[in-house]
Amino acid sequence: MKHLIDVLDLTPNEIEDLINTAKEIMKEPSAYSQVCQGKKLATLFFEPSTRTRLSFEAAMYELGGHVLGFSEAASSSAAKGESVSDTVRVVSAYADIIAMRHPKEGAPLVASMYSEVPLINAGDGGHNHPTQTLTDLLTIHKEFGRLDGLTIGCCGDLKFGRTVHSLLHAMARYKNIKFVLISPEELRVPEYLRKELLIKKGLDYEETTNLESALPGLDVLYMTRVQRERFFNEQDYIRLKDSYVLTKEKMALAGPELRVLHPLPRVNEISMEVDEDPRAAYFRQAKNGKYIRMALIMKLLGVSLEGKK
Ligand code: NCD
Repeated sequence: MKHLIDVLDLTPNEIEDLINTAKEIMKEPSAYSQVCQGKKLATLFFEPSTRTRLSFEAAMYELGGHVLGFSEAASSSAAKGESVSDTVRVVSAYADIIAMRHPKEGAPLVASMYSEVPLINAGDGGHNHPTQTLTDLLTIHKEFGRLDGLTIGCCGDLKFGRTVHSLLHAMARYKNIKFVLISPEELRVPEYLRKELLIKKGLDYEETTNLESALPGLDVLYMTRVQRERFFNEQDYIRLKDSYVLTKEKMALAGPELRVLHPLPRVNEISMEVDEDPRAAYFRQAKNGKYIRMALIMKLLGVSLEGKK
Protein backbone atom coordinates (compact mmCIF):
# COMPACT_ATOMS: atom_id res chain seq x y z
CA MET A 1 0.00 0.00 0.00
CA LYS A 2 1.29 3.42 -0.92
CA HIS A 3 0.53 6.78 0.67
CA LEU A 4 1.31 10.23 -0.72
CA ILE A 5 2.67 12.37 2.10
CA ASP A 6 5.52 14.15 0.33
CA VAL A 7 5.85 14.77 -3.40
CA LEU A 8 9.20 12.92 -3.23
CA ASP A 9 7.25 9.74 -2.37
CA LEU A 10 6.76 9.62 -6.16
CA THR A 11 9.67 9.02 -8.54
CA PRO A 12 9.99 11.27 -11.60
CA ASN A 13 8.81 8.29 -13.68
CA GLU A 14 5.71 7.88 -11.56
CA ILE A 15 5.02 11.61 -11.91
CA GLU A 16 5.40 11.33 -15.66
CA ASP A 17 2.91 8.43 -15.68
CA LEU A 18 0.43 10.47 -13.64
CA ILE A 19 0.77 13.42 -16.03
CA ASN A 20 0.21 11.11 -19.01
CA THR A 21 -2.81 9.48 -17.38
CA ALA A 22 -4.29 12.90 -16.53
CA LYS A 23 -3.88 13.97 -20.15
CA GLU A 24 -5.54 10.75 -21.35
CA ILE A 25 -8.46 11.35 -18.99
CA MET A 26 -8.84 14.92 -20.30
CA LYS A 27 -9.12 13.58 -23.84
CA GLU A 28 -11.83 11.08 -23.05
CA PRO A 29 -13.27 11.52 -19.54
CA SER A 30 -16.27 9.28 -20.19
CA ALA A 31 -14.01 6.25 -20.63
CA TYR A 32 -13.06 6.56 -16.95
CA SER A 33 -16.53 7.04 -15.53
CA GLN A 34 -16.75 3.56 -13.97
CA VAL A 35 -13.17 2.68 -13.03
CA CYS A 36 -13.68 3.37 -9.31
CA GLN A 37 -17.19 1.97 -9.07
CA GLY A 38 -17.96 0.85 -5.53
CA LYS A 39 -14.93 2.66 -4.07
CA LYS A 40 -15.14 5.40 -1.45
CA LEU A 41 -12.93 8.42 -0.86
CA ALA A 42 -12.97 10.06 2.57
CA THR A 43 -12.02 13.74 2.68
CA LEU A 44 -10.92 14.68 6.19
CA PHE A 45 -10.39 18.43 6.14
CA PHE A 46 -9.39 19.99 9.46
CA GLU A 47 -8.62 23.27 7.65
CA PRO A 48 -10.51 25.38 5.06
CA SER A 49 -10.33 24.46 1.40
CA THR A 50 -12.22 25.04 -1.82
CA ARG A 51 -10.20 23.66 -4.72
CA THR A 52 -8.39 20.82 -3.04
CA ARG A 53 -11.40 19.26 -1.37
CA LEU A 54 -13.87 19.86 -4.18
CA SER A 55 -11.46 18.73 -6.88
CA PHE A 56 -10.78 15.52 -4.92
CA GLU A 57 -14.51 14.96 -4.58
CA ALA A 58 -15.25 15.78 -8.22
CA ALA A 59 -12.37 13.50 -9.24
CA MET A 60 -13.82 10.56 -7.30
CA TYR A 61 -17.34 11.15 -8.63
CA GLU A 62 -16.05 11.30 -12.19
CA LEU A 63 -14.33 7.97 -11.68
CA GLY A 64 -17.67 6.46 -10.64
CA GLY A 65 -16.81 6.31 -6.92
CA HIS A 66 -18.38 7.80 -3.80
CA VAL A 67 -17.28 10.43 -1.33
CA LEU A 68 -17.74 10.92 2.41
CA GLY A 69 -16.05 13.17 4.92
CA PHE A 70 -16.03 16.48 6.73
CA SER A 71 -14.86 19.95 5.77
CA GLU A 72 -14.03 21.44 9.17
CA ALA A 73 -12.58 20.13 12.39
CA ALA A 74 -15.56 21.56 14.28
CA SER A 75 -17.94 19.08 12.68
CA SER A 76 -15.75 16.04 13.41
CA SER A 77 -14.90 14.33 16.68
CA ALA A 78 -11.65 16.33 16.73
CA ALA A 79 -13.87 18.92 18.43
CA LYS A 80 -14.39 16.37 21.24
CA GLY A 81 -10.66 15.78 21.56
CA GLU A 82 -10.22 12.72 19.37
CA SER A 83 -6.67 12.19 18.10
CA VAL A 84 -5.86 12.13 14.41
CA SER A 85 -4.61 8.57 14.73
CA ASP A 86 -7.92 7.34 16.19
CA THR A 87 -9.94 9.23 13.57
CA VAL A 88 -7.94 7.67 10.76
CA ARG A 89 -8.03 4.18 12.20
CA VAL A 90 -11.80 4.36 12.20
CA VAL A 91 -12.26 6.10 8.86
CA SER A 92 -10.01 3.61 7.12
CA ALA A 93 -12.65 1.01 7.97
CA TYR A 94 -15.26 3.09 6.10
CA ALA A 95 -13.33 4.24 3.04
CA ASP A 96 -10.91 2.86 0.43
CA ILE A 97 -8.74 5.97 0.26
CA ILE A 98 -8.34 9.10 2.39
CA ALA A 99 -7.37 12.69 1.60
CA MET A 100 -6.44 14.65 4.72
CA ARG A 101 -5.69 18.34 5.32
CA HIS A 102 -4.50 19.43 8.74
CA PRO A 103 -3.09 22.64 10.26
CA LYS A 104 -0.32 20.71 12.04
CA GLU A 105 2.82 19.91 10.08
CA GLY A 106 3.32 16.15 9.96
CA ALA A 107 -0.26 15.19 10.94
CA PRO A 108 -0.93 13.31 7.66
CA LEU A 109 2.35 11.42 8.06
CA VAL A 110 1.35 10.29 11.55
CA ALA A 111 -2.13 9.45 10.27
CA SER A 112 -0.70 7.31 7.47
CA MET A 113 0.95 5.09 10.09
CA TYR A 114 -2.48 4.21 11.44
CA SER A 115 -4.37 4.04 8.17
CA GLU A 116 -5.30 0.74 6.59
CA VAL A 117 -5.96 2.42 3.25
CA PRO A 118 -3.86 4.80 1.09
CA LEU A 119 -3.70 8.27 2.63
CA ILE A 120 -3.00 11.48 0.73
CA ASN A 121 -1.63 14.64 2.32
CA ALA A 122 -3.92 17.42 1.10
CA GLY A 123 -1.83 20.09 2.85
CA ASP A 124 -0.18 20.04 6.30
CA GLY A 125 0.28 23.42 7.97
CA GLY A 126 3.07 25.49 6.45
CA HIS A 127 4.90 22.35 5.36
CA ASN A 128 3.89 20.50 2.18
CA HIS A 129 1.11 20.19 -0.37
CA PRO A 130 2.04 17.39 -2.78
CA THR A 131 -1.20 17.22 -4.79
CA GLN A 132 -1.00 20.95 -5.50
CA THR A 133 2.49 20.29 -6.83
CA LEU A 134 1.20 17.51 -9.09
CA THR A 135 -1.33 20.02 -10.38
CA ASP A 136 1.46 22.55 -10.93
CA LEU A 137 3.64 20.01 -12.76
CA LEU A 138 0.78 18.98 -15.04
CA THR A 139 0.14 22.67 -15.76
CA ILE A 140 3.79 23.41 -16.52
CA HIS A 141 3.96 20.32 -18.73
CA LYS A 142 0.83 21.32 -20.63
CA GLU A 143 1.94 24.94 -21.06
CA PHE A 144 5.60 24.30 -21.99
CA GLY A 145 5.67 20.68 -23.18
CA ARG A 146 8.49 19.95 -20.73
CA LEU A 147 9.56 20.13 -17.08
CA ASP A 148 13.24 20.87 -17.61
CA GLY A 149 15.20 23.92 -18.73
CA LEU A 150 12.93 26.43 -16.98
CA THR A 151 13.49 29.49 -14.81
CA ILE A 152 10.89 29.45 -12.09
CA GLY A 153 10.12 32.52 -10.03
CA CYS A 154 8.26 31.95 -6.77
CA CYS A 155 6.84 35.13 -5.33
CA GLY A 156 5.12 36.06 -2.08
CA ASP A 157 5.06 34.13 1.17
CA LEU A 158 7.84 31.62 0.69
CA LYS A 159 8.14 31.02 4.42
CA PHE A 160 4.68 29.68 5.20
CA GLY A 161 3.56 28.80 1.65
CA ARG A 162 3.48 25.02 1.61
CA THR A 163 2.76 24.85 -2.12
CA VAL A 164 6.12 26.52 -2.83
CA HIS A 165 7.97 24.12 -0.54
CA SER A 166 6.63 21.07 -2.37
CA LEU A 167 7.15 22.69 -5.76
CA LEU A 168 10.82 23.44 -5.04
CA HIS A 169 11.43 19.82 -4.02
CA ALA A 170 9.71 18.47 -7.10
CA MET A 171 11.27 20.84 -9.66
CA ALA A 172 14.75 20.40 -8.21
CA ARG A 173 14.83 16.92 -9.74
CA TYR A 174 14.66 18.17 -13.35
CA LYS A 175 17.59 19.37 -15.45
CA ASN A 176 18.61 23.00 -15.93
CA ILE A 177 16.16 24.48 -13.52
CA LYS A 178 16.77 27.89 -12.05
CA PHE A 179 14.81 29.26 -9.12
CA VAL A 180 14.28 32.96 -8.46
CA LEU A 181 12.86 33.36 -4.96
CA ILE A 182 11.06 36.68 -4.61
CA SER A 183 9.85 37.63 -1.15
CA PRO A 184 10.08 40.22 1.61
CA GLU A 185 13.03 39.56 3.97
CA GLU A 186 10.72 38.18 6.67
CA LEU A 187 9.05 35.71 4.32
CA ARG A 188 12.10 34.09 2.70
CA VAL A 189 12.12 30.30 2.28
CA PRO A 190 12.73 28.56 5.61
CA GLU A 191 16.35 27.92 6.57
CA TYR A 192 15.86 24.13 6.47
CA LEU A 193 14.87 24.31 2.81
CA ARG A 194 17.77 26.58 1.91
CA LYS A 195 20.26 24.28 3.66
CA GLU A 196 18.80 20.85 2.95
CA LEU A 197 17.65 21.43 -0.60
CA LEU A 198 18.94 24.55 -2.36
CA ILE A 199 22.51 24.54 -1.04
CA LYS A 200 22.98 20.81 -0.43
CA LYS A 201 21.80 19.87 -3.92
CA GLY A 202 23.84 22.69 -5.48
CA LEU A 203 20.79 24.19 -7.17
CA ASP A 204 20.90 27.32 -9.26
CA TYR A 205 18.90 29.86 -7.26
CA GLU A 206 18.80 33.49 -6.30
CA GLU A 207 16.84 35.35 -3.66
CA THR A 208 15.54 38.84 -4.22
CA THR A 209 12.93 41.25 -2.91
CA ASN A 210 12.35 42.78 -6.34
CA LEU A 211 9.63 41.34 -8.58
CA GLU A 212 10.07 43.89 -11.38
CA SER A 213 13.74 43.11 -11.94
CA ALA A 214 13.12 39.34 -11.84
CA LEU A 215 10.19 39.32 -14.28
CA PRO A 216 12.01 39.61 -17.64
CA GLY A 217 14.06 36.44 -17.01
CA LEU A 218 11.24 34.13 -15.92
CA ASP A 219 9.46 31.27 -17.68
CA VAL A 220 7.11 30.62 -14.78
CA LEU A 221 5.96 33.13 -12.18
CA TYR A 222 4.39 31.24 -9.28
CA MET A 223 2.48 33.81 -7.22
CA THR A 224 1.29 33.04 -3.69
CA ARG A 225 -0.81 34.81 -1.09
CA VAL A 226 0.56 35.84 2.28
CA GLN A 227 -0.60 33.06 4.61
CA ARG A 228 -2.54 35.05 7.18
CA GLU A 229 -3.53 32.02 9.27
CA ARG A 230 0.11 31.16 9.98
CA PHE A 231 1.12 34.59 11.32
CA PHE A 232 1.64 35.16 15.00
CA ASN A 233 0.30 38.69 14.89
CA GLU A 234 -2.11 40.58 12.69
CA GLN A 235 0.12 43.70 12.46
CA ASP A 236 2.84 41.75 10.67
CA TYR A 237 0.27 40.30 8.28
CA ILE A 238 -1.16 43.73 7.48
CA ARG A 239 2.31 45.16 6.90
CA LEU A 240 3.32 42.34 4.55
CA LYS A 241 0.13 41.33 2.81
CA ASP A 242 0.44 43.65 -0.16
CA SER A 243 4.19 43.30 -0.68
CA TYR A 244 3.61 42.20 -4.27
CA VAL A 245 0.74 42.93 -6.60
CA LEU A 246 1.04 41.69 -10.15
CA THR A 247 -0.51 44.24 -12.50
CA LYS A 248 -0.84 44.71 -16.25
CA GLU A 249 2.09 47.16 -16.13
CA LYS A 250 4.32 44.59 -14.46
CA MET A 251 3.21 41.90 -16.92
CA ALA A 252 4.57 44.16 -19.68
CA LEU A 253 8.07 43.60 -18.27
CA ALA A 254 7.86 39.83 -18.87
CA GLY A 255 8.40 37.85 -22.05
CA PRO A 256 5.64 36.41 -24.27
CA GLU A 257 6.31 32.86 -23.07
CA LEU A 258 5.86 33.65 -19.36
CA ARG A 259 3.17 31.68 -17.58
CA VAL A 260 1.68 32.93 -14.32
CA LEU A 261 0.63 30.21 -11.91
CA HIS A 262 -1.06 30.60 -8.53
CA PRO A 263 -2.41 27.77 -6.36
CA LEU A 264 -5.32 30.07 -5.42
CA PRO A 265 -7.08 31.45 -3.43
CA ARG A 266 -5.91 34.88 -4.62
CA VAL A 267 -6.34 37.75 -2.24
CA ASN A 268 -4.72 40.88 -3.66
CA GLU A 269 -1.50 39.65 -5.21
CA ILE A 270 -2.72 39.43 -8.81
CA SER A 271 -4.92 42.23 -10.02
CA MET A 272 -8.01 41.05 -11.88
CA GLU A 273 -7.01 42.79 -15.10
CA VAL A 274 -4.22 40.20 -15.47
CA ASP A 275 -6.82 37.41 -15.79
CA GLU A 276 -7.45 38.33 -19.44
CA ASP A 277 -3.76 37.97 -20.34
CA PRO A 278 -3.21 34.63 -22.15
CA ARG A 279 -0.08 34.19 -20.02
CA ALA A 280 -2.27 33.93 -16.90
CA ALA A 281 -2.54 30.17 -16.41
CA TYR A 282 -4.01 29.96 -12.89
CA PHE A 283 -7.58 29.12 -13.84
CA ARG A 284 -6.36 26.48 -16.29
CA GLN A 285 -4.18 25.22 -13.42
CA ALA A 286 -7.18 24.89 -11.08
CA LYS A 287 -8.97 22.87 -13.74
CA ASN A 288 -5.97 20.57 -14.16
CA GLY A 289 -6.17 19.79 -10.43
CA LYS A 290 -9.19 17.57 -10.89
CA TYR A 291 -7.60 15.47 -13.63
CA ILE A 292 -4.29 14.87 -11.88
CA ARG A 293 -6.22 13.84 -8.74
CA MET A 294 -8.24 11.39 -10.84
CA ALA A 295 -4.96 9.90 -12.05
CA LEU A 296 -3.60 9.79 -8.50
CA ILE A 297 -6.68 8.12 -7.02
CA MET A 298 -6.51 5.47 -9.76
CA LYS A 299 -2.84 4.85 -9.09
CA LEU A 300 -3.18 4.56 -5.30
CA LEU A 301 -6.24 2.30 -5.60
CA GLY A 302 -4.44 0.21 -8.20
CA VAL A 303 -7.19 0.52 -10.79
CA SER A 304 -6.66 1.05 -14.50
CA LEU A 305 -8.76 1.56 -17.57
CA GLU A 306 -7.54 -1.73 -18.98
CA GLY A 307 -8.44 -3.58 -15.79
CA LYS A 308 -12.04 -2.47 -16.17
CA LYS A 309 -12.41 -3.39 -19.81
C1 NCD B 1 -3.15 26.49 -1.19
C2 NCD B 1 -3.02 25.81 0.14
O1 NCD B 1 -4.02 25.38 0.73
O2 NCD B 1 -1.89 25.71 0.60
N1 NCD B 1 -4.43 26.37 -1.73
C3 NCD B 1 -4.73 25.29 -2.50
O3 NCD B 1 -4.75 24.18 -2.02
N2 NCD B 1 -4.95 25.49 -3.79
C4 NCD B 1 -2.63 27.86 -1.23
C5 NCD B 1 -3.12 28.84 -0.23
O4 NCD B 1 -3.99 28.55 0.59
O5 NCD B 1 -2.63 29.97 -0.28
